[in-house]
Amino acid sequence: MLKALAAVACCSFVSLGLFVPSPVSAQTAVRPQPDRQQWYLNAGKMTYVVGVNEQGILQSLYWGPKLSDRGLVPVAKSLPERASQYAPAATTPQEYPAFGAGIFPETALKVNSPNGDRTLILKYESAKVTGSQLEIVLKDTQEPLRVHLYYQTFPEGVLARWSRIENTGKGSFGIENAASATWNLPAGTGYTHRWLTGMWGGEFQLNEEPLKTGKSVQESRTGHTSHEANPWFSIGKEEQTTEEAGPVWFGELGWSGNWQIVTEYTSLRQPRVTGGYNPFDFHWTLAGGASLETPKFYAGYTDGGDGEASRILSQLQLREILPKRGEAREPKPRPIIYNSWEATEMNFTGETQIALAERAAKVGVERFVIDDGWFGKRDDDHAGLGDWTITPKKFPQGLKPVIDRVHALGMDFGIWVEPEMVNPDSDLYRQHPEWAMQFPNREHSEERHQLMLNLARPDVKEWMFNWLDKLVSENDIAFLKWDYNRIWSEPGWNMAPGSSPTHPNPDAEKAIYLEAVRNLYDVIDQLRAKHPKLEIESCSSGGGRVDLGILERTDEVWPSDNTDALDRQDIQFGYTQAYTSQTMVAWVTDVPSMDHRMVPLQYRFVVAMQGALGIGANLTKFSDADLALSAKLTEFYKTVRTTVQQGRLYRLASPLTGDPSQMEYVAEDGSQAVLLALQHSQRLRLPYPTVRLRGIDPDAMYRLRPLDPEKYTGEEVVSGSVLMDAGVNLKLEGDYDSTALVLERLP
Ligand code: DGJ
Repeated sequence: MLKALAAVACCSFVSLGLFVPSPVSAQTAVRPQPDRQQWYLNAGKMTYVVGVNEQGILQSLYWGPKLSDRGLVPVAKSLPERASQYAPAATTPQEYPAFGAGIFPETALKVNSPNGDRTLILKYESAKVTGSQLEIVLKDTQEPLRVHLYYQTFPEGVLARWSRIENTGKGSFGIENAASATWNLPAGTGYTHRWLTGMWGGEFQLNEEPLKTGKSVQESRTGHTSHEANPWFSIGKEEQTTEEAGPVWFGELGWSGNWQIVTEYTSLRQPRVTGGYNPFDFHWTLAGGASLETPKFYAGYTDGGDGEASRILSQLQLREILPKRGEAREPKPRPIIYNSWEATEMNFTGETQIALAERAAKVGVERFVIDDGWFGKRDDDHAGLGDWTITPKKFPQGLKPVIDRVHALGMDFGIWVEPEMVNPDSDLYRQHPEWAMQFPNREHSEERHQLMLNLARPDVKEWMFNWLDKLVSENDIAFLKWDYNRIWSEPGWNMAPGSSPTHPNPDAEKAIYLEAVRNLYDVIDQLRAKHPKLEIESCSSGGGRVDLGILERTDEVWPSDNTDALDRQDIQFGYTQAYTSQTMVAWVTDVPSMDHRMVPLQYRFVVAMQGALGIGANLTKFSDADLALSAKLTEFYKTVRTTVQQGRLYRLASPLTGDPSQMEYVAEDGSQAVLLALQHSQRLRLPYPTVRLRGIDPDAMYRLRPLDPEKYTGEEVVSGSVLMDAGVNLKLEGDYDSTALVLERLP
């Protein structure tokens, strides 16, 4: 009984909704109720409601399943003082809590005002609806400071929130903390919290724990998004939320610099998630008349479990975030890449690259990419970064003959760059030592023998755009793999506005954290505007820079340098919680792997087919049989690629909890589905468990096309309900066996 009650009350912050008629259509994304000082935001199957309480404070009122068009939640009312230890400001679920009036839970904003005051009381001033966007303006009761809160609804079922902090006075405010949003969940018990952590070679590890009183902090202090944590969260309910059912509140940030997400569970059982810029070592001087905008924090709700939450995010990314060329609703699916890094590292010439390209074309590759080592004096990682001119020793006639040959083989051409870095052993550094991030009296900390360029500097930004533009203009380059192989140290910038070598101002220099990322975004945006067909992969020693900020301007991601087929399943399982398979580049590489594991070629292919298939193995060493198998598997992949990359993903079995690992993808229009099935090791002569499919039409008939006819010997035409309820039996045997089954819906 208690559980049933909890389920009914789960989504209202105050109490159950009242029902009164409203003239506004259910299709309306933003439904203001001016007489109640409330705004109803509908996004897909979710509704989010905010309202102004009797004290003029903006309150979170509801976040849950879509309310009926006539459903109204009670008007906002601040919570009474529970005891002298709890100011109402601290217990009332504020929409954008600023430090002040006795608030002690995590705050979204903390400023020092020009007159030394460190408190803010933000009260409602105005609201404006523009299409599917709502802007609410809050104003401090004393100081000339306004906060503009933005809400953008997306039909996929997601709301983006961000803020703009505006100084309407003359003096400067010092901002110490500026989050994009605080998301309040319904007060209650029995929540579970999921988040992603990792490391180099082991990114996107999924964590799950009961939500405990106190705070769980996920963040980056590395200057970029980081391997250690990814800006995504998900909160479900114990005993209710599964992969395919139950409530899930989830979200992710669009920022590729230092970020923080604090998931908090207060002593009064209120879950709160606050995220945006990381307050660590943060300062922003907000001059009179200036504004600071925070990154977008996207969040959604579903009652379809963790799988549906991922599918919503995937659709959001495909339709609203990723760069598009042309009018199509989704970006075009990823080509099959060959990348030479694992085969040759930096030890290559134009001739050896051509030998690889010839093999790659034979197995069906569509894009050939030369990785690190083509420029400057780059024979190993000690030198060359910063000198972005083609090495004559490796390419005596420049890149043109190689690119021409790649084109003649029917592929397009891509190349690796690492624009934000410099080796001390480079002409660039000898010419501009001041361009590296630094505190002048400190030694640099080198990582991989390289330093960070200070991209906050306008001259570095200009130089970077110019050489990238020249490289792409002078060569027929379709694709850049944009790498980033170290984290920040010595984040000094004594030429920052407000600082100088003679009068360094540490607070002013901290602007480096935002400016470097903004300039990165600008360089990519300008480059793409000038070269609209250019595609870009975000890489940072694997998956160190994956977030919705970089994905607005790059087409795909290299999720990990670890290509071991077993480890990759865990990494890819975690990755797909938060990001679409279309962006998840996965190469088939040589064995033994990084973990010294020997795995059959087909198994490696089937694992890589979970995302955007690529090849990184040394094809010049492949036997004829391996080349033939590779050609067969790439050809097969091309028949299901759009479904895998843009379809609805059902994670049927988790590699984290069981032996079989299975992913199923259903095309958006339902015409095709594909099952990728893997077995790590057979035990006790047990058969492979029956696989029950998901997400297809129970009333439709499907023609089954197995990748390996000997591994599926069932009927050729089967109904959707049988496939989902009775399932299919596959003959996977022994260790590291794998197969795929395609379902084509019959008319
Ligand atoms: C790190 C990347 O993750 C690798 O794929 C490769 O591009 C190397 N950098 C090259 O230095």
